[in-house]
Amino acid sequence: MVADGPPPAPTGPFREHAPDDETGRLASPEEGAPRRAAREPPLLRPEMAQRMARVLDAIGEGVVVRDQWGRRVLQSARARALIESGAGAEAAEVAEAVEDVLDRAAQGLPAERTVASAPPLGRVVSVRGERLGGPAGTLGVVAVLEDVTEQRRLEASRRELVSTMSHELKSPVGALALLAETVALEGEPAIAQHLADRIHTEALRLSRIIDDLLDLSRVESQEAQTTEVLAFAAVVAEALERVRSAVAARRIALEVRSTAPGALVLGDRRQLVSAVYNLLENAVKYSDPAAPVVVEVSEDAGALEVRVIDRGIGIPRGEQARIFERFYRASHDRARQTPGSGLGLSIARHVARNHGGQVLVSSEEGVGSTFTLRLPASDPRGS
Ligand SMILES: Nc1ncnc2c1ncn2[C@@H]1O[C@H](COP(=O)(O)OP(=O)(O)OP(=O)(O)O)[C@@H](O)[C@H]1O
Ligand SMILES: [Mg+2]
Repeated sequence: MVADGPPPAPTGPFREHAPDDETGRLASPEEGAPRRAAREPPLLRPEMAQRMARVLDAIGEGVVVRDQWGRRVLQSARARALIESGAGAEAAEVAEAVEDVLDRAAQGLPAERTVASAPPLGRVVSVRGERLGGPAGTLGVVAVLEDVTEQRRLEASRRELVSTMSHELKSPVGALALLAETVALEGEPAIAQHLADRIHTEALRLSRIIDDLLDLSRVESQEAQTTEVLAFAAVVAEALERVRSAVAARRIALEVRSTAPGALVLGDRRQLVSAVYNLLENAVKYSDPAAPVVVEVSEDAGALEVRVIDRGIGIPRGEQARIFERFYRASHDRARQTPGSGLGLSIARHVARNHGGQVLVSSEEGVGSTFTLRLPASDPRGS
């Protein structure tokens, strides 16, 4: 909506009709050509400003416009919300940033400011100004306001990922370099063979970390996310197929029970399979050989659930919230001896969030764990 009300369109000579410009806004750029500006039509006539505000409101853009006489002729609803919804000092700061950016843009200076508020709001608003040039000089200035909180959060999370990743990749790469150096000097074929085997194992470990990282980056960015209606049973079956060789190798008795054979889910097949697979893989690898693993699929009140229940090593209570962090591995000796990079559950949690769901854990050390992936079910009637 128009905030300050459209000003009357100037009808006479510029000096008479230009408002008292107490702030000097736009005064200087216009000074050289007051007569020319007077002859120019106003940037936005009142009815035009109102229409433009409606368009901007419909597309949700935060825009403030000042005309060539320095009067605010338009403020979209989004701009008003961004200025007014801040807490206390922040609201004043955003309003001040808008004025400043408009003043600077009017003088042809670079005009960009970012206002970041302290937690709990923790909001970041970017304000950018542009001068609207016309044939006879400045026609006015426009400020564009944007809530960039989420964008900044993603950037920070990416920076953190790159730094953690470099750190995590350093140790296997270091081990590879050392092993390669040793094998080159080793004269005894049997020892050289043993070292070559270790190089192979380390290289596989590295390649798995990289695969997991690629998966994680995909689900975090949501770039390649597709949405289709999927039979949930088929998603679970594909994940079971992927874990089949590990189940056979550890002679695990795997039991699948489903009370929702026809359940549908709306989402990205590849992501969902990867989430279920990561829960299954953990149940298998953190269990004793032959300890049974049960997979239960159910649907209740619009929620689909797959529960992966193991009787494995369990997770210490104090660490249960942290296991979803990237690269976090429980301090448990047994868990540490098992190969893994600590990314599987971060992937599962991201996938669940991308689909409006969640992953829950309930676990007792030495007794076993239950991981539940809960997702909203897709209504077969298509609503
Ligand atoms: N079913 C489980 N039983 C016991 N501990 C588990 C179980 N699932 C996960 N954990 C613990 O949580 C940690 C994080 O799991 P996550 O799947 O993210 O990583 P990972 O299995 O170590 O490696 P990756 O899955 O990337 O190969 C594990 O290292 C393990 O300590
Ligand atoms: Mg895992």
